[in-house]
Amino acid sequence: SVNKIRNRTERTLRTLIKIGYAGNTEPQFIMPSCIAIRESAGVGDTAQRRLARGVDDLDFYIGDEAEDKPNYATKWPIRHGMVEDWDLMEKFLEQVIFKYLRAEPEDHSFLMTEPPLNTPENREYLAEIMFETFNTPGLYIAVQAVLALAASWTSRQVGQRTLTGIVIDSGDGVTHAIPVAEGYVIGSCIKNVPIAGRDITFFIQQLLREREAGIPPEQSMETAKAVKERYCYICPDIVKEFSKYDSDPGKWIKQYRGVNAVSQTAFHVDVGYERFLGPEIFFHPEFANPDFMQPISDVVDDVIQSCPIDVRRPLYKNIVLSGGSTMFRDFGRRLQRDVKRVVDARLKLSEELSGGRIKPKPMEVQVITHHMQRYAVWFGGSMLASTPEFSQVCHSKKDYDEIGPSICRHNPVFGIMS
Ligand SMILES: Nc1ncnc2c1ncn2[C@@H]1O[C@H](COP(=O)(O)OP(=O)(O)OP(=O)(O)O)[C@@H](O)[C@H]1O
Ligand SMILES: [Mg+2]
Repeated sequence: SVNKIRNRTERTLRTLIKIGYAGNTEPQFIMPSCIAIRESAGVGDTAQRRLARGVDDLDFYIGDEAEDKPNYATKWPIRHGMVEDWDLMEKFLEQVIFKYLRAEPEDHSFLMTEPPLNTPENREYLAEIMFETFNTPGLYIAVQAVLALAASWTSRQVGQRTLTGIVIDSGDGVTHAIPVAEGYVIGSCIKNVPIAGRDITFFIQQLLREREAGIPPEQSMETAKAVKERYCYICPDIVKEFSKYDSDPGKWIKQYRGVNAVSQTAFHVDVGYERFLGPEIFFHPEFANPDFMQPISDVVDDVIQSCPIDVRRPLYKNIVLSGGSTMFRDFGRRLQRDVKRVVDARLKLSEELSGGRIKPKPMEVQVITHHMQRYAVWFGGSMLASTPEFSQVCHSKKDYDEIGPSICRHNPVFGIMS
């Protein structure tokens, strides 16, 4: 039915919400940002009115509980990482705070994140909800890419902490390359790459379908995803990798074991070339997407070249990975090598064009791989929110009451000891 199709498309656009308390390394809850409300629910029923009646009265569900609930309509207030329906978002937050975090919002300051190119109006809407509905004492709205940079400090010495770098954030639906200079995103230079976790899963699913007959069709997606997360890695050279597998298959081919959910019988899958071909689509996107040809290393180079000249050198030196789809073994190593190749080729060309008179200074290219990559944005926020500086940069309820929501349009950069 139309509803089923709509649900399915919405699921592919879904944003996962990650929530928890500052000081932890991982979020406590990760859930789809959907909400299920009774089809008959009154529209004017604001969170504030409901709060007055008590919180036992939450006749709606969020997250995994909200998917496919009979007699409820499932809605998605966030799309492509951006809030589109603030009334639903308010309800959603009500459950996040009371039911999941089990927090009294009057007692906690909140750090919330925004995607690149969020609007100042959106910040005001969020401030209204947090200060007026929930009475929170403090709010800071952080830029996701900046938090990802902060998360990479775990792998660095204190003196090398910087908020200048380019974040390569690759999640399930999209990959962004986001340049940041001194804590400010250079919005006009951001690029999206239409290759991310879901595309790799699809690609592996296709490869397996051509060869492995034993996978139950309705489990082919989850099988491909599990294979991807468990066995895939990035190789330096696919031609050599093929020949490694061909000359010693026993060493390289893995077995994935699954259970048919209906018959409860075991099935197994030989995992071969998919191990390195899956994530190779970052570097050869045309394998999976005929409409997109640019390797991720070229995109990174393009983005940095489009930035002001004085930040290019520090950007090449601090290419920071973030998100689940940067977890493949040797992703950072390959990216660093390929970006370096592009840069070196350009420098060589300009030397040649000058007839050898210009000797360009070599460019240092460094990709930062670190332990907190999986939930980098969340972890960066958790870390910064547990510093003493956090309470100083938060907007306070008092300022909000005196000046109004506009104070939340701007959120000062913090975290670099000066
Ligand atoms: N160990 C792993 N190796 C490879 N991929 C992984 C691993 N762990 C998780 N992933 C993939 O990471 C993706 C989820 O990453 P993340 O949580 O960063 O996405 P998201 O922020 O929810 O999505 P988006 O940023 O696209 O909105 C999924 O495609 C998942 O399969
Ligand atoms: Mg993400």
